[in-house]
Amino acid sequence: MHEKLFNMMARRAVIIPTSEIYNPIAGFYDYGPVGLLIKRKIVDMWREIFIKEDGFLEIDGSTLLPEIALKASGHVDHFNDPLTECRKCHRRYRADHLLEEAKKIDASHMTNEQMTAAIRENGIKCSVCAGELDEVKPFNMMFKTSVGAVDGSSITLYLRPETAQNIFMDFNKLFNTHGAKLPLGIGQVGRSYRNEISPRQGLIRVREFEQMEVEFFFDPSEDDSQYLEQVKDIVVPLQTREQQRRKENFDFVSLGSAYENGDIPVRTVAYFMAKEQKLLNALGIMNFRFRHLMEDETPHYSGGNFDVEIPTKFGWVEVISLAYRTNYDLARHKEFSGKNLEVTFNNKKVLAHVVEPSIGLGRLFWCALEHAYVEDKERGWDWLNLPPRIAPYDAYILPLMKKDNLPEKAKEVYAQLLTMFDVYYDASGSIGRRYAKADEIGVPYCVTIDYQTLEDETVTVRFRNDGKQARIPLDILASELMRFKYNGTVEGAKSGLPLIQVQQPKDEEEGKSQ
Ligand code: ATP
Ligand code: GLY
Repeated sequence: MHEKLFNMMARRAVIIPTSEIYNPIAGFYDYGPVGLLIKRKIVDMWREIFIKEDGFLEIDGSTLLPEIALKASGHVDHFNDPLTECRKCHRRYRADHLLEEAKKIDASHMTNEQMTAAIRENGIKCSVCAGELDEVKPFNMMFKTSVGAVDGSSITLYLRPETAQNIFMDFNKLFNTHGAKLPLGIGQVGRSYRNEISPRQGLIRVREFEQMEVEFFFDPSEDDSQYLEQVKDIVVPLQTREQQRRKENFDFVSLGSAYENGDIPVRTVAYFMAKEQKLLNALGIMNFRFRHLMEDETPHYSGGNFDVEIPTKFGWVEVISLAYRTNYDLARHKEFSGKNLEVTFNNKKVLAHVVEPSIGLGRLFWCALEHAYVEDKERGWDWLNLPPRIAPYDAYILPLMKKDNLPEKAKEVYAQLLTMFDVYYDASGSIGRRYAKADEIGVPYCVTIDYQTLEDETVTVRFRNDGKQARIPLDILASELMRFKYNGTVEGAKSGLPLIQVQQPKDEEEGKSQ
């Protein structure tokens, strides 16, 4: 199925390989108009749930950071992937992926030495020239550059590998200028860059991508019980470490009981798990799991990490990482900058602790589309069951025929709706063909301007999911579309899709004039 989705995305220019007219470099994509609209709406949904609901702050930081900042964060010395290179043709491979692909060996817990041994023992050679592969070495994933016009005085910079570091560096300033209270949540949507050795699987592993991150700063000695209190009865699919050791999948458990059992390290982690689930559901993604990372996958400073993994045609894909980063980052920046990054709160000096939900926007975008994909033989075309709030357009505006003043009337309707909605005017081809075009990119409503419109100022509105139509007077069209859009989205998106008041279904008249 994902081949069909890829084909549709290419045909409709939803995403486009960057510099496609040359030989595109793997791991870079442009979002076309439809892709951009969907992506923006996912960000809006994130902003509602992760920023506005809690009154958090949001920043937009520079993507180029000085070397010292990334030395402090540990990225210069430790942000590495395992690399092996062909001694003959110098083709490079990411060693853990190579072992998985060539011999189905799970190398996620192996050291570089163990991977080298596994490559040798299994006789794995270069897939291009069958040459010998070199020892596995660490490969730093950051893109390096420099600033400064004068030779010898340039400063080394890196494109940031995560958006989080800007927030840590700005934390004290934001705390002092925005109320001087903990807890304080600060979010950011922005680009991150990683020189992935083998970018693949479309948007899943790319070299330039967007993250939506929140750093939630708190004083660990303060009572945080209200955070668990709010979400304790929410049931989530959780795969514990014990289940992973026993090779079992997840169970549905309440966040309260998971915390009581010691599976969740701090209450605020449970709070953000609930938010992550809310966002996924609002995007129509009902099938996923929270996986508690095993001890050897968890950074040494972390008090526990939970990945959201979503089943896709590529297997389970990590889309969100939720980390209890303790006060590691602030402590490191304090040490490297020489600035005291403690804040004064409740008459105490506090080096704040941090919980971080980090979401990969491109991966989430792909999963939302893949989970919305409906193969529909009966209808004769496939379509996207996207929740209306993230559909690229709220409605397609369609004159039934390209004559008899229908296009002029349709353009009037289009212009009326344009300020409030994302709408698309389409007059090309038969009406059935235009419905199919709207359906396949997930547009929930088609507004058709027909001969009756000219007589009584009503239009038909067709609902994507069942093809049923209602006649709506033009003077309430905008308010009705708004009602359709907002009914039943954020809570339980798919099941709650609004059904319009259905009158006797009317056969569509095929437009014949092109
Ligand atoms: P992976 O193990 O798949 O490489 P990661 O553990 O390195 O991912 P994090 O460092 O936790 O990922 O980054 C946070 C989020 O950013 C991820 O959950 C993912 O959604 C996104 N992300 C990370 N790397 C990429 C990438 N190369 N392409 C697209 N999204 C990415
Ligand atoms: N900020 C989490 C990550 O990108 O790894």
